[in-house]
Amino acid sequence: MMTQNSFTRLYRARFGTTCEAEGDQDLPPSLVKILRRRTHRQFTDQPVSDELMEVLLACALSAPSKSDLQQVSIVRISDPEKLRELGSWIPAMPWVATSPEFLVFCADQRRMRRVSELRGHEFANDNLDGFVNATIDASLALQTFMLAAEAVDLGCCAISAVRDHIDRVSELLELPAAVYPIAGLCVGYPSREGYQSLRLPPELTTHVDRYDDDHLADAIDGYDQRRDAIFPIPKERYKYREVFGDAEFYSWSEDKARQESRAEREGLRSFLESRGFSLE
Ligand SMILES: Cc1cc2nc3c(=O)[nH]c(=O)nc-3n(C[C@H](O)[C@H](O)[C@H](O)COP(=O)(O)O)c2cc1C
Repeated sequence: MMTQNSFTRLYRARFGTTCEAEGDQDLPPSLVKILRRRTHRQFTDQPVSDELMEVLLACALSAPSKSDLQQVSIVRISDPEKLRELGSWIPAMPWVATSPEFLVFCADQRRMRRVSELRGHEFANDNLDGFVNATIDASLALQTFMLAAEAVDLGCCAISAVRDHIDRVSELLELPAAVYPIAGLCVGYPSREGYQSLRLPPELTTHVDRYDDDHLADAIDGYDQRRDAIFPIPKERYKYREVFGDAEFYSWSEDKARQESRAEREGLRSFLESRGFSLE
């Protein structure tokens, strides 16, 4: 019999297909939480205590770090005026301005530049690899914060839209050169259950010994069908309807291909260069 927290059941909810795993034991609660996780954008008014925020920030900073360089900085916005202002730049996402807690995760190369200077050494990694390393550190801290928060029944929503206003956000938070925001994070107690979005099939996103996507078209068709059966995309959310009209089957892949038909944040490179990242 399939139990509530069996891998078979959790796998079906995550991917919409049947897994090949044998046996049907309940998974440990920590894994159940990860498999059932979802983004939350609606929160109750209940504040997150300072004590809990301190714990969660310590968890975030326990993430691994490339060469132990620890190139992340996290800005917690505690000033409601500042959050209201930041939120007013992103009106399409009202969950930003009203979020009980809002953090901005930054890739921080400034600290190591200063450490190098303190120790009298040249800093020779102002290059693309150094930039990627700092970005990965910040991403891992963001993800670790989310997992920790979700473990204690908080909900989170990462906000890459802060990069739509990267100049204003950097100024608002007084981010110095060689520090840039990778994403914001809404954190609060969810006011509704939310929904679990289906993931692409592992057959497409995991590989054994060699990369192989020969079956991509069929795999995407199957995924589109499964997703549509659970969450059909309503017409008012069709992207660039004025250009592409209504699709016969407005699927996940149609939605994402329409999204990718427009470049996002084309000014990012020049902004980062102006903030001291050479990206070479
Ligand atoms: C780096 C990153 C940036 C994101 N930016 C936004 C955002 O700006 N606004 C938003 O509402 N959701 C944002 N999300 C949430 C994604 O939309 C969400 O993770 C995705 O739709 C999958 O849903 P799930 O997390 O519920 O499985 C972001 C997620 C990530 C990982």
